[in-house]
Amino acid sequence: MAEEIRFFKLKTGAEIPSVGLGTWAAAPGVVGDAVSTAVKVGYRHIDCAPLYGNEKEIGCALKKLLDDGVVKREDLWITSKLWCTDHLPEDVPKAVDRTLQDLQLDYLDLYLIHWPVSLKKGSDVKNPENLTQPDIPGTWRAMEALYDSGKARSIGVSNFSIKKLGDLLDIARVPPAVNQVECHPSWKQTKLHAFCKSKEVHLSGYSPLGSPSNKHEIEVLKDPILNKVAKKLGKSPAQVALRWGLQMGHSVLPKSTIEARLKENYDVFGWKG
Ligand code: A2P
Repeated sequence: MAEEIRFFKLKTGAEIPSVGLGTWAAAPGVVGDAVSTAVKVGYRHIDCAPLYGNEKEIGCALKKLLDDGVVKREDLWITSKLWCTDHLPEDVPKAVDRTLQDLQLDYLDLYLIHWPVSLKKGSDVKNPENLTQPDIPGTWRAMEALYDSGKARSIGVSNFSIKKLGDLLDIARVPPAVNQVECHPSWKQTKLHAFCKSKEVHLSGYSPLGSPSNKHEIEVLKDPILNKVAKKLGKSPAQVALRWGLQMGHSVLPKSTIEARLKENYDVFGWKG
């Protein structure tokens, strides 16, 4: 029997569920149902961010699941992220409070700096003129204060290169527990993976299916080797891509709002590629 790989242990000692529901591009009006269905299917990890514009709806779905006794808060793992307009140290606590209010929670299991670039307060992400000089050490001090307060039980980063992660590790009192980056069989992040492993930073993979709806992306699920392996194992290409991530030691965050796919993407335990 293959090892199940249900959790990964972080440096903080916390156990992050290995398969989380991605909520990026999950449309308002359907994301709440997706979260409810996912939790009923067995997911215990939901990956959120204010940028996705759907934390309020996710919060309503979580409240109902908790009130109805479908799941206990301590059995859920909720991640959210600090947006680039909120990097000033004085804005960090306000941003987390907004997210906690929207998600109707009193703590996050993991809070990440979403990108290592800063934007002017209240500005639009699409206009490069809104970029400002980031002060990651300053932002990180404010993240550490959230960790100390218990509002974020683990803290980490997203989209950090080896250089940026290394610079942060050099100055961090509380080291980042996670680096969440795009990762799938067509973009293995080999060097970053090795660096993270050497520093005990858990690598969490977003877009683990290569975002098949995004026409600009590589078509991971059409990869001939992935399809060959899937056929041999009697699994779908999506399942093989996800199981690859787990066996590499990455948590994976597939997004779907379709029940059959939510089930398919969670059926990745107890077999191996
Ligand atoms: P949908 O939400 O309609 O199911 P990623 O997590 O790599 O960003 O990929 C998300 C995209 O992949 C979404 O467009 C999602 O569409 C689609 N998707 C999710 N699960 C599967 C699956 N098992 N097979 C094919 N496509 C999937």
